[in-house]
Amino acid sequence: MTNAPVICVDGPSGAGKGTLSTKLAEALGWHLLDSGALYRIVGYACVLRDISWQDEARVVEVAETLDVRFAPSPSGVSVWLADQDVTTQIRSQDGSRGASAVAVLAKVRGALLERQRELATFPGLVADGRDMGTVVFPSAALKIFLTASPEARASRRQAQLLEKGESVSLRRLLDSINERDERDINRSASPLVAAEDAVHIDSSALSVDAVCDRVVELAAGKGLIARSPN
Ligand code: C5P
Repeated sequence: MTNAPVICVDGPSGAGKGTLSTKLAEALGWHLLDSGALYRIVGYACVLRDISWQDEARVVEVAETLDVRFAPSPSGVSVWLADQDVTTQIRSQDGSRGASAVAVLAKVRGALLERQRELATFPGLVADGRDMGTVVFPSAALKIFLTASPEARASRRQAQLLEKGESVSLRRLLDSINERDERDINRSASPLVAAEDAVHIDSSALSVDAVCDRVVELAAGKGLIARSPN
C-alpha cells in the first residue's frame, strides 16, 4: 500500500455512498473504489459458471481469478467481466442478492483485499463500501459513516432501479435493504460497523451537494487537500 491519502465512505445500503463517492472523487480528481461492485461481480460470475454462492472454495477461486475492468462510459462507469459488459446485470436486485451472499464468506473477502488496497495511489482514493475504514484502509486519514432513514434509502434505491427500467415496490425494496443490512451487520467477517474514528453523517434530509461540501470541508481541515475546490 502506498501512503496516498484515502477517504473512506462506509455505511448501509442506499445511504447515498455511491453518489457521494463518485462526486467527491470527481471534485478532488482522485481515484474511486466501488468495492460493492467487486462483490457484485463475484456473485454474478458465480451465476455464469453455475457455482453456488455458498460454495466457499469455488467462490474464492472466482474472486482470485476475477478478470474485471472498470471503464468510463457515457452513463458513468461501465463494469466489464472479461469481454462482457455486466454493468446492468450486477446492479439488478439479483446482483444485490449475490453480492450480499458472497460477501459473508471470509476467504472471499480476503481474496479481494489486496486488489482493493492496490488502488490507493496518488493523488488519492475515495473508497466506497462497508469495511473500508475498519478493515481495508484502517489508517485512512478521513472516514465517513453515511446513514439515512430506511425509507429514504428505499426510495433512493427505487429511483435508481427505475432509471434502469426495473420497477420494484417500496415495500419490497425496504425488505430487501433490511435483509441485506442485517446480513452485513451480523456476519462475522468484516461486519458493517462504523470505525471508531469515523465521522457520522445522516444524509436523509441533505442533498448530495451538501454532503459532498461537508466532506470536502473535513478533508481540507485534515490537510488532505490544499483548499476546497470551487
Ligand atoms: O455497495 P453495494 O450495495 O454495491 O454492495 C453490494 C453488497 O456487497 C452489500 O450489500 C454488501 O453485502 C457487500 N459489500 C461488502 N463490503 C463492501 C462492499 C459491499 O460486504 N466493502
